[in-house]
This record gives sequence, structure tokens and C-alpha cells, in this order.
Amino acid sequence: MIQPRVFSAIQSCRYAYRSFFSSAITSKYGHTLEILGDQYPTDEITNVTPAILSKIPLRVHTQVGHPLSTLRSIIESHYPDFSHLSSFSPLVTPFKNFDELSFPKDHPGRSVTDSYYINKNLMLRTHTSAHEVEVFSKGEDRWLLTADVYRRDEIDGSHYPVFHQMEGARLYSADASGMKEVEEDNERLSRHLETSNIVIEDIPHISPTNPVQQTHDPRHSELVAKNLKLSLNGLLLRLFGGSNSEEPLRVRWIEAYFPFTSPSFEVEVFFRGKWLEILGCGVVIQSTLDTSNVQGKIGWAFGLGLERIAMILYSIPDIRLFWSTDTRFLSQFKAGEITTFKPYSKFPSCFKDVSFWNPQDSAPLHDNDFCDLVRDVAGDLVEDVKMIDSFVHPKTNRSSSCYRINYRSMERSLSNEEVNGLQKNVVSRLTDVFRVEIR
Ligand code: DAH
Repeated sequence: MIQPRVFSAIQSCRYAYRSFFSSAITSKYGHTLEILGDQYPTDEITNVTPAILSKIPLRVHTQVGHPLSTLRSIIESHYPDFSHLSSFSPLVTPFKNFDELSFPKDHPGRSVTDSYYINKNLMLRTHTSAHEVEVFSKGEDRWLLTADVYRRDEIDGSHYPVFHQMEGARLYSADASGMKEVEEDNERLSRHLETSNIVIEDIPHISPTNPVQQTHDPRHSELVAKNLKLSLNGLLLRLFGGSNSEEPLRVRWIEAYFPFTSPSFEVEVFFRGKWLEILGCGVVIQSTLDTSNVQGKIGWAFGLGLERIAMILYSIPDIRLFWSTDTRFLSQFKAGEITTFKPYSKFPSCFKDVSFWNPQDSAPLHDNDFCDLVRDVAGDLVEDVKMIDSFVHPKTNRSSSCYRINYRSMERSLSNEEVNGLQKNVVSRLTDVFRVEIR
């Protein structure tokens, strides 16, 4: 997964979960949800919150002048002969998001603690790969698709439950003529990179731990993987190589695993003293193409996170800013241009802690449930949430959790009264809905 998770433990707390969301949803919406003008029934696994639903119509990646839209168009211009798609609905079936891409039945991404469900049969896509089969089925063999994706996650400056990804894919005929085309393209791309200021730490295109697929000719797979790497190195050079010309751009390739590619890779870029994970990619697994009714082809795909790249390129310090409607943010940017963000001011933080005993008859509250509850109460007035303590009482065996919430607006100073009101609301939701006992 491109967005790393700090809280990785997958706990089972469906009881608490169900009681929170079914009461929250039915009290706010009744038994159906309206999304983009249509009604959808809720059920016992519904866990989308009003805060999340409010983001669906915004489509900031298509707002002219928005940094995410500019980044999208720069990447699109790097692939001029690809189809550029950006209007796919985020509502997908779990089948499309996971099964169609060969995710195992027990993959943690499927859990209600990690993903947003409208009901058992409908969810918010967690990645743009969810549309691979749909697009390949239309006969597209070179395309880019940009979209909002949704994952339940912690709250901090670089994680937001809605973010944007761009998926790219390219197919070739799996025969001599297709491979000739790949070879020619590889030569062209290599020549360009040879004359550029870029240092690439590479790994083998194929290895026993990153294997060629059984149905693939190893020579074809090798050429296609090489084409993928060359193409993406060129894109990264276009995105990151421009600014300080003396220091070469450093890129490193890492072996990865995805259920829908083999071999698979991740790419990191060295930027301001740190290696940053930028994208995942690989040679498309043949069953995806079979399901799409595509025959006699082999190809690659990649998925990259737009916020991560835009934060680096524009020096945007907090991921919430991408949702800002403040003109002090939006008016700084011009369509098509990458410029350094000038922070307007930093308003004071206000930290509030809440400690509680978890209910005795169910698993401790999941971090993501806590974060969604806070997000639903305080929206973008919360900058980050950290679990600062947890323990199990040796005698009573009850578990205790303590979270620290950092309230800070990006636009104004918050009054004590306002923060106290928000915190009170968080505490009362915790007790009413999750039945915790405040300490
Ligand atoms: N969908 C993956 C994620 O969100 C990223 C990804 C990996 C996309 C490999 C791809 C791919 O197209 O081939 O983490």
C-alpha cells in the first residue's frame, strides 16, 4: 500500500463498530444514504461518516489551478498518447476493489476497520487499481486514471482518509512485433535518461523472489518490466529533476508484492534528506487481462499517490490544505505551474487528552474508529491524533487507552470555548456509542 500505516494492528471490534455507525448513520440519515444524487440502503456494516461523504462531490483533482489538478495534468502531459480518465465514481463493489484483482479473501484491506463501506455490496474504492478491469475491458491499452480514494486511517499531517491516486497502464502485443515495439521504446527512453542528471539504484527486473508469471515468456516479462522502469524513471525526472540541477535526482527501486502484479516494485525518491515512497507498480497479472477479455497482450501498471508528490513539489506542509477553500491557499496557485507554497500563518495548537477503560465484553476501540469519530466531530480542526498510552490492568484485566488530540485550525485561532465544546462532544460520543468508561 502506498500510504504507509502507523497503526497496523488489525483488531476485531465489530461489536463496538456496529453500534457506533448504525446509530450515527440512522440518526443522521435514516436507513438510506444519498450519494451523488442516488439513494443507497445501509446495513450493519455501514461505516461511512458524514465527514467522508461530504468529500465525494468535491473532486478537487479536476479543479482548475488546484495543485492536485496541475500535478495530474503534468503527469498526463508526460504520457500524451495515453487516454486520460478522471470521472469514475468512487462507489465500487468489494468484488471490483479486491476480488477482481486477486486479493485473497482474508486480506486486511477488506476489513471494516480499514475501508469504508456503504453496505455489504458497496464501498468507497481504496485504490485506483479498482478500475483496471473496467478500463482494460473497454479495449484501452494505454491509459491514465485519476481519482479520489478512501481509506480509514490515523490523523496526522500526511494522512487523510480521502486522497488521490493516479493509475497508469500500458499493454503490448505478446508477440515478436509487440516486443520489437518495447525494445525500440526502451532504447528511446534509455537514451533520454543517459543524458539526464539522475542516479538510479536498480534491482533485477525478475528474480526468484519477484518472479515472472507462469504464463509469460521470461524474455517478454523482462522487457516489459524494463519498459515500466524506464518510463517511470523518466516521469520522476520530469517531476523532481527540475529544481536544483547540480545534485542528481536519486531514485531507488525496491522489490514489492501486490496481488495483481508480478514482478512487482515500489519506487522511492531521495528528497530533502529522506527516502520517500512514491508509487507501486509491476507487470499486470494475467488473470486481470483474462477477466477483461484481453487476449495476447502483456503489460505494466502503476499507481501513485498525488498528495505525497504535491506536498514535496509545492512544499505544502499539511495534507488538510488540499481541502482548504481559503483564498489565501487557493489564490497562490496558477494552473500548470508548480510554485512554492507560502504559509500564511500558523495558529496555536490546543492539546486535549482523553483516557478511558474499554468495554469489558469487546475488543479495545480500534485507532481508526477513534480517528473517524474525532474527524466527524471536529472535521479539519484536528491536526493529529496520537495514542499516548495503553495498558491492561493486572487485576481486573480491563484495558485502558489514552489519546491526545491536537486541535489546530489552518485558518484562524480557536477559542478555548470552542475546543472544549468539541472535546466534550468527542467524550460524549465515546461513552454513548462505544460504551467506554472515561477515567
Ligand atoms: N493500488 C496499489 C496501492 O494503492 C498501487 C499499485 C501497485 C498500483 C501496483 C498498480 C500496480 O497499478 O501495478 O497501493
